[in-house]
Amino acid sequence: MPALGLGTWRMGERTRDRAKEVAALRLGLDLGITLIDTAEMYGDGGAEEVVGEAIAGRRDEVFLVSKVYPHNASRNGVIAACERSLERLGTDRLDLYLLHWRGRVPLRETVAGFEALRDSGKVRDWGVSNFDRKDMDELLALPLGAHCAANQVQYHLRCRGIEWDLLPLCRQRRIAIMAYSPLDEGRLLKHGPLVAIAEREGVRPATLAIAWLLARSGVAAIPKAANASHVHDNKNALDLALSPEVMQKLDAVFPAPRGPVPLQVI
Ligand SMILES: NC(=O)c1ccc[n+]([C@@H]2O[C@H](COP(=O)([O-])OP(=O)(O)OC[C@H]3O[C@@H](n4cnc5c(N)ncnc54)[C@H](OP(=O)(O)O)[C@@H]3O)[C@@H](O)[C@H]2O)c1
Repeated sequence: MPALGLGTWRMGERTRDRAKEVAALRLGLDLGITLIDTAEMYGDGGAEEVVGEAIAGRRDEVFLVSKVYPHNASRNGVIAACERSLERLGTDRLDLYLLHWRGRVPLRETVAGFEALRDSGKVRDWGVSNFDRKDMDELLALPLGAHCAANQVQYHLRCRGIEWDLLPLCRQRRIAIMAYSPLDEGRLLKHGPLVAIAEREGVRPATLAIAWLLARSGVAAIPKAANASHVHDNKNALDLALSPEVMQKLDAVFPAPRGPVPLQVI
């Protein structure tokens, strides 16, 4: 899985923004950010349509991720939802298909649907999102649960709870962590001490915050940016190696957890 992606939450909600959103995603691909993260929920299917327009004619360049609503995640429901997503995306396959969050459908049913999609070639891999340690333990105890390829969770400098036990478990089981809201939905960029460290390093705060995530093994980050200059800032994180001194400064401002912390879900 590519380490850096393009988020799409809040895209596809307003017709007047569509051209700008498509252009931002195409710019990201042009700059080499090849993962796109979307979901049937975003814009009620509208975000998948925006992605479909952005990747038209260049599907093979993209690592495409979408997510199924928990209420659609029965064995047959997950297959039908995936087919609707593929239609909106204008493609015949997803690289990764995630359960958006845990609902009432028994996990073994969702896994059966995901496995059927994998067998038919409609998804290359499947995974979950917003699964805390206990949910992962339950999933991994199922016969095919270990096929889970990724867990997409909130992870950024101000939200480091997963480092206590979820991230170590996922690393050990070779399950990728996809860090969502890596900029804390933009709020992190107004954090005085972070801005000061970025200024001293001569980089944008967003570049620094994303580079911090990319420096962690087994972690991918999926910032959302509809603004072209933001896409450039975020891409620059791929080329920014953080020195041990900068890492220490960031740890001092944003300490690692000292005990278990429940997963923070948006
Ligand atoms: N699985 C889940 O439950 C879940 C939950 C939340 C998010 N996600 C995924 O993760 C993606 C990212 O999370 P997010 O959208 O919540 O928040 P985010 O990526 O942390 O922040 C997005 C906000 O930051 C701004 N921004 C982006 N790059 C910037 C830069 N370089 N400088 C200044 N501002 C910048 C964006 O503005 P512009 O758009 O104007 O450029 C937007 O307002 C989502 O889009 C979605 O794909 C998944």
